[in-house]
Amino acid sequence: MDSEKDFIEKSELVVSGSSKWEAPSNIALVKYWGKFGAQYPQNPSLSFTLSQCVTQTSIAYKPKENQLSEFSFDFTFEGEPTPSFHPKIETFLERIAPYVPFVKNHHLAIESSNSFPHSSGIASSASGMSALALGIMSIEKAGNPSMSEAYFLKKASFLARLGSGSAARSIQGPMVSWGVSDVIEGSSDLYGTPLSSALHPVFQDYQDTILLIDKGQKKVSSTLGHNLMKNHPYSATRFEQARTNVKLLKPILASGDLDAFVSLVESEALTLHALMMASEPYFILMHPNTLQVINKVWAYRKETQSALCFTLDAGANVHLLYPKSEKDVVLKFIKDELASYCQKNQFIEDQIGNGAKKL
Ligand code: PMV
Repeated sequence: MDSEKDFIEKSELVVSGSSKWEAPSNIALVKYWGKFGAQYPQNPSLSFTLSQCVTQTSIAYKPKENQLSEFSFDFTFEGEPTPSFHPKIETFLERIAPYVPFVKNHHLAIESSNSFPHSSGIASSASGMSALALGIMSIEKAGNPSMSEAYFLKKASFLARLGSGSAARSIQGPMVSWGVSDVIEGSSDLYGTPLSSALHPVFQDYQDTILLIDKGQKKVSSTLGHNLMKNHPYSATRFEQARTNVKLLKPILASGDLDAFVSLVESEALTLHALMMASEPYFILMHPNTLQVINKVWAYRKETQSALCFTLDAGANVHLLYPKSEKDVVLKFIKDELASYCQKNQFIEDQIGNGAKKL
């Protein structure tokens, strides 16, 4: 396994230029919930990379004029200066500076925009932090053009992890693990690893329709949520369960066993929420409409033998996962029966994707 030291850039890089990246969100099938140390996961997680829910971030960089302040950056989100994001970016820069010291002697003009509402339970921090990390890596590459593609992507994931753990899984696609697992070659706590094992054709264009049940800001930040796992009565059992679920999921993804996929994925989602309900303090992050949708999905599956299933992140929104062959019928079901549970009837049609793109 690589160590942190392998990611330290030593050269006194001074460059000017700009870069623009588009990075996707991802949806965890086996969830990361609980961390230690410098944003290391307590268990391995595994996600599908998405393709439509993306953040686009450009960075214009030049040597810093004022050497007094530690970091110098401007940030606009969707065209507006957004000072409320500054502390998050400052913390990110502090964490990554030991590995990319040039962030201290360059001014960064960062412009970012999302294709979906931020802090809505769709992992906007995943796409946001990975797009930013890729931009930072483009600066390093400008000073070191012979850097290998493999190192570029690995270090981008390593840096993204320091911003938001799940962001480590948003650099590549279509399926990425993060966290050491016995069954995943090359897996690491330091960065995400795209799975090199087979992905059955049914999953290669798997659909994810995201029902926007509650577009408000998250009630519990993920930092707080992860911390709740520190003294959680079920933590040891949960971390072991997640390790087992990664082992079980790998052959399911290769064989296309949809019944097994549905059971594992829904159980992971409900476990995540059960952990929150059993935390001290405790939280319910589902909305009444989340439960309505879950019950409708179960009834629909019983009636139609569909492979439609749901998963949840740490919020009220519902990700509906299903094979592309069912797209027309499932979208009709969503429009007719589920959209009314969404805020302003809104949902986002997405599907599994191949990772970030340089624009
Ligand atoms: O990356 P964070 O710290 O926002 O944590 C995200 C955790 C979940 O989205 C709930 C699960 C996951 O693995 O993505």
